[in-house]
Amino acid sequence: MRSLNKILVTGGAGYIGSITTHELINAGYDVIVFDNLYQGHVEAVHPKAVFVQGDLADTAAVKALFEAHDGIDGIMHFASYTLVGESMEKPLMYLRDNLVNAANLLEAAVAHGVTRFILSSTANLFDVPPDREFGVIDEQFPINPGSPYGESKFFIERMLHWFHRIYGLKYACLRYFNACGGLPDRGEDHYPETHLIPLVLQVALGQRPHVTIFGDDYPTRDGTCVRDYIHVVDLAHAHILALEALDRLQVRHYNLGNGTGYTVREVIETARQVTGHPIPAVVGPRRPGDPAVLVASSEAIRRELGWTPQYPDLKEIIRSAWDWHRTHPHGYGTR
Ligand code: UFG
Repeated sequence: MRSLNKILVTGGAGYIGSITTHELINAGYDVIVFDNLYQGHVEAVHPKAVFVQGDLADTAAVKALFEAHDGIDGIMHFASYTLVGESMEKPLMYLRDNLVNAANLLEAAVAHGVTRFILSSTANLFDVPPDREFGVIDEQFPINPGSPYGESKFFIERMLHWFHRIYGLKYACLRYFNACGGLPDRGEDHYPETHLIPLVLQVALGQRPHVTIFGDDYPTRDGTCVRDYIHVVDLAHAHILALEALDRLQVRHYNLGNGTGYTVREVIETARQVTGHPIPAVVGPRRPGDPAVLVASSEAIRRELGWTPQYPDLKEIIRSAWDWHRTHPHGYGTR
């Protein structure tokens, strides 16, 4: 029997957390989901997971969680505020709350002997000026968070560094580029929605008249921003591989993307092909803070853990998102 069985997933009712929980349970793990349902949906929690509704800001609730569930073998920490734009308007929500909540979790984790931790981190650690192209971004790329959101994740990475040095906590930070796609019964349901692919698919569903392209004067092949879209199930598998390798690796930071960039116009055109809908698009001004190109090099995780994306093709990614959106036009139906 493997030594890893019981995994705590914070934010397991959210988009990436719920799909990772689904993959963990498919792989035979026992999962405890801890989520305050601020952005998450109880309907997204896998029925075989133990669900505890609670807030990481509530130290008594966190303590009770660890006391009720002895012998947690690893933690995957997704629960946090995650919107770049919102963090520019409400910096303390990110710089204080994301940090304090992670500190509360880590304090309880080490007090209860947990030795493995996977952090949901972000490509927003790498702020690149809007008018320069840098090629692919690997783990050696200089860190310069692009927003209070990215900074909060970087602070948590640094907190983990010290928890490793002082308490021996083994950890991996997974810095995702643009997470997207879904499973037939789990997908994106954010309010308000700000992400490109769900917005485009809402146009195809007739819920919006058009999508706005945020700027078409970037130095890219068609003038619109280039991003590296990565399927959420491929992200989930990276979490599981990293968790299972931690005893050997001790500490790792991995950038996670497909290594291929697509422009905003290419995403819209692919969505037209997948949905058969004309998806009208209008060009608007640039969105402040958007770099022209963000594409990952994921060579390190491919080489060290044998991670290979199963859904590298944008069309397949959008098709999986479309399957979710057209069968769940109002998401989980809870808002
Ligand atoms: N975009 C539009 N119109 C829209 C929405 C988005 O043109 O209505 C464009 C954006 O300008 C950007 C691209 O589509 O060029 C993707 O935008 P998203 O909002 O979907 O994603 P971001 O690249 O801004 O951010 C995502 C995650 C962040 C994470 C970041 C890391 O949402 O949490 O990737 O790169 F930090």
